Amino acid sequence: MRTNYCGKINTKYLFKKVKICGWIHQTRNIGKIIFIDVRDQEGIVQVIFSSKIKKIFQQAKQLKIEYCVQICGIVKKRNINNINLKIYTGKIEIFAHKLKILNISKKLPLDFNKYNTIKNRLKYRYLDIRRSNIINNLRIKHSIIKYISNFLNTNKFFNIETPFLTKSTPEGARDYIVPSRLNLGKFYALPQSPQLFKQILMMSGIDRYYQIVKCFRDEDFRSNRQPEFTQIDIETSFMKSKKLCNLMEKMIIYLWLKIKNVELNKIKKISFYDSLKRFGTDKPDLRNTLEIFDIDDLLKNTLIFKNIKCESNRTVSLNIPNGINITSERINFYIKMLKNKNITNFFMMIVKDFKLKQVYTNCMILKNFNSKIGIEIIQRNQSKEGDIILFVNGLKKLVTKTLGELRNILGQDCKIINKNQYSAVWIKDFPMFKKNSNNTFSCMHHPFTSPKNLNISELLKNPINSISRSYDMIINGEEVGGGSVRIHHKKLQETVFKIIGLNKIEQKNKFGFFLNALQYGTPPHAGIAFGLDRITMLLTDSKNISDVIAFPKTTSGKCLMTHAPEFINKNFLNELGIKLK
Ligand code: AMO
Repeated sequence: MRTNYCGKINTKYLFKKVKICGWIHQTRNIGKIIFIDVRDQEGIVQVIFSSKIKKIFQQAKQLKIEYCVQICGIVKKRNINNINLKIYTGKIEIFAHKLKILNISKKLPLDFNKYNTIKNRLKYRYLDIRRSNIINNLRIKHSIIKYISNFLNTNKFFNIETPFLTKSTPEGARDYIVPSRLNLGKFYALPQSPQLFKQILMMSGIDRYYQIVKCFRDEDFRSNRQPEFTQIDIETSFMKSKKLCNLMEKMIIYLWLKIKNVELNKIKKISFYDSLKRFGTDKPDLRNTLEIFDIDDLLKNTLIFKNIKCESNRTVSLNIPNGINITSERINFYIKMLKNKNITNFFMMIVKDFKLKQVYTNCMILKNFNSKIGIEIIQRNQSKEGDIILFVNGLKKLVTKTLGELRNILGQDCKIINKNQYSAVWIKDFPMFKKNSNNTFSCMHHPFTSPKNLNISELLKNPINSISRSYDMIINGEEVGGGSVRIHHKKLQETVFKIIGLNKIEQKNKFGFFLNALQYGTPPHAGIAFGLDRITMLLTDSKNISDVIAFPKTTSGKCLMTHAPEFINKNFLNELGIKLK
C-alpha cells in the first residue's frame, strides 16, 4: 500500500513519486493551499494540497484529525521559510496528487494539546500509543530485547520456554491462580518467576539458559512495579558467581553502549551492610556522592548525646553541601521530616572558618564543642566552608532508613545528581533471613538461595547471622536485577525450608517434586533475573513503568481498556466448581 514511511522521507527522495499511509496529525487550510501533517509509526511528513488540483483539494477539505489515509505525491523542497529542522522530514514536503481516505475517525476522546488523565489515557490506550512518545519507548524496548538476545545467544545461552500454568514459586508476593476445569477444585498458579523451572533445567543438563519472560505477582502497589512484568531470566550451571556477575556486567555495559552510546564504568561491589551503613539503603543511587558517617567513636566521651554507647543506637553525621545557601523553609522541612520519623536527638552545625558553628539547635552543650573533635568530623565528612553538618543519634534501623531518605532528598535539593549520568553497583552478601514481627523467619531473597556457610547445624543454630550468596544490580538507585548461587543439596534445601517454618508435610506438598529432583546429581548452579521494564525505564528516561509497557494495569491491577478483571458468568463458574461467597 505504500512506498515509504512518512517519517523516513528526506531530500534523498526529491522529485520522486512516493505513496504514504498514515493518520492525519494536523490540518491547516490557508485558502488556496491545505497543509496536512501525516503520521505513521516512524514520524510525521508534511503534505500539501493545491487548489489547482480541484478534485483532491475538495477531498482534502474533508480530512479530520486521525482519519486514516493513503496519499500519492511528489517529494519537493520546502520553501526556505518553512524548513523545520526539528523533524527528520523538515526540509521536504509532499505535493499530493492522489488521496484515498482509508477510514474516518470519530472525534477523539483525548485532546493531545492538553493534559489527559492517566485514566483516560489507559482507557484509550491505542490512541495514547499512536500519539505519544510511548511508541518510541516500545521501539527502544524492542532494541533492548534484540541486543540482550544477541549477547546471550553469542555467549551460548539457550532460550527455553517454561510453563505459565504451574505451581507456586515463592518470590514474596501472592500468586495469581487459575482454576482447572478438568481437575475440579484444583488451581494452577501463574509463575512469580520461572525460578524452579530454570533450576530444574540445570538438573536436566542445560548449561546456560535464558528466557525473556512474563512474571505475575499479586502484590500491593509500589512504584516501578506492575502485576505482570517481564524478566530477562538467566541460569547457568558449573559457573561461579564471580564469573556469572562478570558476564552479566558485560551484558549491561554492552546494552548501555548500544542503546545510549554511554560507556558505563566497571561496576563496583558493595556489601549489603556497607550499603546500609554508608547510604542508608540497599538500593543506593551512587550518582549521589553524599555519605552517612558513623561518629560514635568521636562523640563517645562527650555529653552531646546521652545514649551514645547503647548497642541498639547509632550516631551519625551527614553533610549538607553548601547548606548555608539552602532556604530556611527547606531546612525546616528536613527537621520536620526527622521529627515525623520519631528522631528527636539531632542538631546541625555550620562549617565556618573550618570550625563547627552552632545553628538550628538550642543545645547548650554545643557551645563547648571540642574543636579537635569538630575538625575530625569536618574531615570525615569532607565538608567545605559553608556546608552544614547534620548530627543524628537514635535507634540504628530508624536512623539508617531516615538518613537514607534524607540523603536522596539532599541529592536532589543540592543538585548533586546528574540526570544524564548512570551509576551501576552490585550489592552482595545479603543476610539469608529476616525476622518477622511474630518471631518467624523469612528469606531475604527466595528460599533457593545458598547461604555462604554451608554448615547445617550452624545455620539452624543462628539463622539471623547467616549471609547468603546473592547479588542485586542497582542502577541509579533502581534495582534492575537480582540473583544468587543456588542450593544444590537436598538436605540444605530442607533446612532452609525448615527455618522459614515449612514442616515436612508442607515441604512435600509445595516442593516435593523439586526436593526429589535435587537428589539426582544436581550440578552447582547460579543465576539472575533482570527486570526488562525497569531497564527500559532507565534507558528511555521514563518516570513511570506504565510508559514502557504497551498495555499496563492501574495501581489496583485493572486494565481500563478491556475492563479486566471481570465478573464471570455463573454457568462458567459452575463448570469450574467455584461458588462465589
Ligand atoms: P526478583 O524478585 O528480585 O528475583 O526479580 C528480578 C527483577 O525483576 C524486577 N521486578 C519487577 N519489575 C516490575 N514489576 C514488578 N512487580 C517486579 N518485581 C521484580 C526487578 C528485579 O530486580 N527468581 C529471582 C531471580 C533469580 O534469583 O534468578 C527473581 O525473580 O528489576
